[in-house]
Amino acid sequence: MSIQLNSHVRWHEHRVTSQMRSAAMSQKGLCVWFTGLSGAGKSTLANAMDIELHQAGKRTYLLDGDNLRHGLCRDLGMSEADRTENIRRVGEVAKLMVDAGLIVLCAFISPYQRDREQVRTLFGAEQFIEVYVSTPLTVCEQRDAKGLYRKVRQGLLSGFTGVDSPYEAPLAPEFSIDTSSESLIDAVQRMLDFCENLDR
Ligand code: ADX
Repeated sequence: MSIQLNSHVRWHEHRVTSQMRSAAMSQKGLCVWFTGLSGAGKSTLANAMDIELHQAGKRTYLLDGDNLRHGLCRDLGMSEADRTENIRRVGEVAKLMVDAGLIVLCAFISPYQRDREQVRTLFGAEQFIEVYVSTPLTVCEQRDAKGLYRKVRQGLLSGFTGVDSPYEAPLAPEFSIDTSSESLIDAVQRMLDFCENLDR
C-alpha cells in the first residue's frame, strides 16, 4: 500500500517537546522490538521485561501482535501486504509513544526484513533495539501454545510463518534470544543490563 501525504497537510511544532516529556518522567523513550516465529517467546519475554521495568518505576507500554489485531489492525489479514501495513502502523504508534517518553515493548512476528528496517528509520540510533527471538521452528511447533501449528499440519491453516510463509531472520539484531536454551529470567536480566548500559 502506498500512502501519499496530502499536500494541504502541514506539520505543527508543539510547545511541549519530547525532551520536556522525558525530563518529566526521568527517563528516555525507547522502542524494544521483538521479532521471531509464532511461539518463539516474543510476548512472554516482552511481558516479563515489562513487569521488571514497571516494578522499577519505569513508564512502559506493551504492543502485541495478537492484541493489536483485535483493534487498530483488525482490518488486516496475513497477506504480505497486510503484514507490511500492520508493522507500519505499529511502528508509527511506537514512535509516538517513544516521543511521549515511554519505553515501548513491541512483540510482532514482523517477518520481513524491509518492514523492520523501515520501522528502525523512524527512531534515533539509541532509541531502537531489535531483539531476535531465534527459538527454532521445531521447538515453536512442539510448544504450539495456540494450536495453530497443528492446524497448519492438518491443512486447516495456510500461509503460516516459518512453514509456508517466509520469515527473514534479522541480519544484525542488537540482541538475540533462543528461549529453548536460555531461561526467561536470564534473558530478561541480560536485556535489562543491555538497556541500562545504552549510551544515552
Ligand atoms: S505479523 O506477521 O503481521 O507481524 P503479528 O505478530 O501481528 O504478525 O500476528 C501474529 C499472530 O497471528 C500469531 O501469533 C498467531 O497467533 C496469529 N496468526 C494467525 N494466522 C497466522 C499466520 N498465517 N502466520 C502467522 N501467525 C498467524
